[in-house]
Amino acid sequence: MPYGRITGWATNLPDRILTNDDLAQMVDTSDEWITTRTGVKTRHIDGKVTEMSTSAALDAMAMAGVSPDQIDLLLLATTSPDQQIPASASVIQHSLGLTCGAFDLNAACSGFVYGLVTAMQFIQGGMERILVIGSDSLSSITNWEDRGTCILFGDGAGAFVVENSGEQPSLLGWDLMSDGEAADLLYCEHGDKIVMDGQAVFRKAVLAMEAAALTAMDKANVVSDEIKLVVPHQANIRIIEAALKRLDIPMEKAAVVLSSTGNTSAASIPLAFVDAVNNDRVEPGDLVLLVGFGAGMTSAAAVVRWDPPKT
Ligand code: UT7
Repeated sequence: MPYGRITGWATNLPDRILTNDDLAQMVDTSDEWITTRTGVKTRHIDGKVTEMSTSAALDAMAMAGVSPDQIDLLLLATTSPDQQIPASASVIQHSLGLTCGAFDLNAACSGFVYGLVTAMQFIQGGMERILVIGSDSLSSITNWEDRGTCILFGDGAGAFVVENSGEQPSLLGWDLMSDGEAADLLYCEHGDKIVMDGQAVFRKAVLAMEAAALTAMDKANVVSDEIKLVVPHQANIRIIEAALKRLDIPMEKAAVVLSSTGNTSAASIPLAFVDAVNNDRVEPGDLVLLVGFGAGMTSAAAVVRWDPPKT
C-alpha cells in the first residue's frame, strides 16, 4: 500500500496589514470588542490567491527538494479564486512550471483538510508527488461596511508537498462532511460580498468541529489524550475554545495564529500548522488533529502522524 506523507511546507501572507484600530475608522467597532469577541488583532489583506499560492508553493517545493516536473497533481483549496474562469490552480500551475493536472476545490474553510485527504487518496492510487495548497483572499469578497463580518477576515496561503515516501501511514483517520441545509447561513453571490449569520454559524461550527474530530479520531482508533497538537480552523478564538472543551482537549494543545491572521478560510489550517511546526511543537511520531468547518456548511477532520523527512 503506498503511503503519502508531508515532505515540504511553507506559507505566504500579503504585505498589507489591517489593524483593529484601522477597522474602527471604517465601521462602528473597537479594538476592545473585536479582541474580546474574536481574538483577532490584525489581518493581512489585498492578497491575490494565485500570487500567494505560487510563493508558498515555491518555498514548499524547495524544502521538499522537488522539481516542477516531479509534481503529478496540483490541488488548490480556495473559495475566492482570482477569476471565476479559469481555475486559479491552472494559473498557479503555469507560474510554477508544472506539467501536471491542476484543479480548484471549494469546501470553504474546510478546504485544506478536504484537499489533504484527497491528495492522500491519489497517492494511494499511484501518484508520486502532489502539491496541496490552501489559499484565500477573503478581503476581495468582504463587505467593508458590515461590522458583523469585516472584522473577521484576512488573506493568506499555505502549501504542502505530499509524497509517496512514507514507510507507514501518516493519515490515520479522517472525516469529510457537508450540511447543505445550512448553506444560507454563510454565502457569497457571484460578484457580491460575503453574507453571514454569525451567531448561527458559531453554534453550528462548535458542534460540527466536535463531530468531525470525534469521527476522525474514532477511525484512527485514537483518543483525545493521544493527540499532541490540534490545528483548528482559525475563525474565532471562542469557537476554538468551545470545541476543544467539548472534546476534552486543553487549549495548550491548540495551534492558534488568528490574532495576527484573522480568518483566512482555506489558508487558516495550513498557516497554523506551519507556525506550530516551525516553533517545534511537534516531533516525529506525534499525532496531529486537523479540524475545520465552513460555508456549506462543510466540516472536516484528519488525524495525521507527523512523519517529516529525516534531516
Ligand atoms: O469560517 C467560518 C466563518 N464564520 C465564523 O466562524 C463566524 C462565527 N461567528 C462569530 O464569530 C461571531 O458570531 C461574531 C464574531 C461574528 C459576532 O460575535 P457575537 O458574540 O456572536 O456577537 P453578536 O452577533 O451576538 O452581537 C452582539 C452585539 C450586538 O449588539 P446588541 O444587539 O447586543 O446591542 C451587535 O450589534 O455586538 C454588536 N456587534 C458589534 N459591536 C461592535 C456586532 N458586531 C460588532 C462589531 N463591533 N464589529
